[in-house]
Amino acid sequence: MAKKPWGGVFDGATDPRVEKFSESVSFDHRLYAHDILGSLAHARMLAVRGILTEAEVQQIVDGLETIGNEIAAGTFSFRTELEDVHMNIERALTERIGDVGRKLHTGRSRNDQVSTDFRLWIRDAIDRLDEKLVDLQRAFVSRTDRDADVILPGYTHMQRAQPVLANHYWLAYCEKIERDRSRLCDCRERVNQLPLGTAALAGTTIDIDRQQVAEELGFDGLVANSLDSSSDRDFAIEFCFVLTMVAEHLSTWAEEWILWSTSEFDFLTLPQAYCTGSSIMPQKINPDVLELIRGKTARVVGNLTSLLVLIKGLPLAYNRDLQEDKERVFDSTDTVEACVELAAAVVAGAELNRESIAARLDRGYLDATTLMEYLIGLGVPQRSAHEIIGQLVGKAMKQGVPLAALPLSDFQAAHSALDEKVFEVLGVRQALEAFVSYGSTAPQQVAQQVTLWKERLA
Ligand code: ARG
Repeated sequence: MAKKPWGGVFDGATDPRVEKFSESVSFDHRLYAHDILGSLAHARMLAVRGILTEAEVQQIVDGLETIGNEIAAGTFSFRTELEDVHMNIERALTERIGDVGRKLHTGRSRNDQVSTDFRLWIRDAIDRLDEKLVDLQRAFVSRTDRDADVILPGYTHMQRAQPVLANHYWLAYCEKIERDRSRLCDCRERVNQLPLGTAALAGTTIDIDRQQVAEELGFDGLVANSLDSSSDRDFAIEFCFVLTMVAEHLSTWAEEWILWSTSEFDFLTLPQAYCTGSSIMPQKINPDVLELIRGKTARVVGNLTSLLVLIKGLPLAYNRDLQEDKERVFDSTDTVEACVELAAAVVAGAELNRESIAARLDRGYLDATTLMEYLIGLGVPQRSAHEIIGQLVGKAMKQGVPLAALPLSDFQAAHSALDEKVFEVLGVRQALEAFVSYGSTAPQQVAQQVTLWKERLA
């Protein structure tokens, strides 16, 4: 049985059930590389301050590096009775280099150590995720050359609304992801503040140099209040929120593409490498990856909710409840990284079913709003134009024909300003080409945006 690092004041042993109940090493072992980085920086700083000798710090550095290599190689055995990754590494160090190892924890506490390691881990996760999000944007943009001429029905309330270029759809997702990236970048600033040296809750009486540690570890600044940082996890929660927003965006996209891949829509053929079959129905090619992206969003939302509930009742400063944060953050990170990676592959590999889309494009009166705006252009007030075109659509609906199939006399009867020029804005392609506003689906606007995105992602 290993003696506890905090055992001095205790008379007896810990109940083994408590060890099992309270350990975190089974999951926080994932922080090992960052824990070692933090300890290396801390030890070097202690040497510069004359708190450790150069010889001592060299022993610590060598020892920590050996331990790091062993963990990476899978030959290190973590001990549950030592609770967490931090105490496992420190104990292993002392077993290797003797009493010098017992000096490493000078001027710090596990409270600031955990927070430091976790911030370093999240910082790496942010940088990895950002690259993956760029890959996903690239996947959308990679479609723009092949899909440039494809018009899709745009929907509101899941009812056909107005015509939209396929590329306008793709860039809509690029924009959403761009905002997620900007949120990540913003969150990174708050994550990247060094807590090490705030110690347990009040700081330390040892004359440490936090600035040096921050510089060595690449932190942008120092957490300014020890009580604040030892009590809070808002940096982790904020990261989880951004992960959740990414998952939400992917989930809505997945839902849309699941619908589009049905026989009922028949807009899209998904790449088979990202579908699976049925054990009973031989014909099935199911969009499981998309369904799971949608489904896994539930656990990501759940993790965020758990974290928010976790901190709501905590008085200053550190409380052990905070140990519960790691698994939620790890799970959301792993889940969202996998979703983003697979989403990029699906986006790049899917094919639009052009004929099937085109064959039904004249359904749903996608050109009605363009016609109304054309009438407004002839001087008719919007409310009146809306009413007049509504009646024309009603007439066409009863006959089961598109607006362009109505005779000129119907248009003239609807409003005297309408003449044969009306046929220049009718039909889906002409209705689409009539768009002009910034940010609209106007072909010129979309082409400009495609160019911008290509440049941005080059
Ligand atoms: N294993 C714990 C965690 O991950 C470390 C707790 C350190 N602080 C304490 N006062 N017990 O949060």
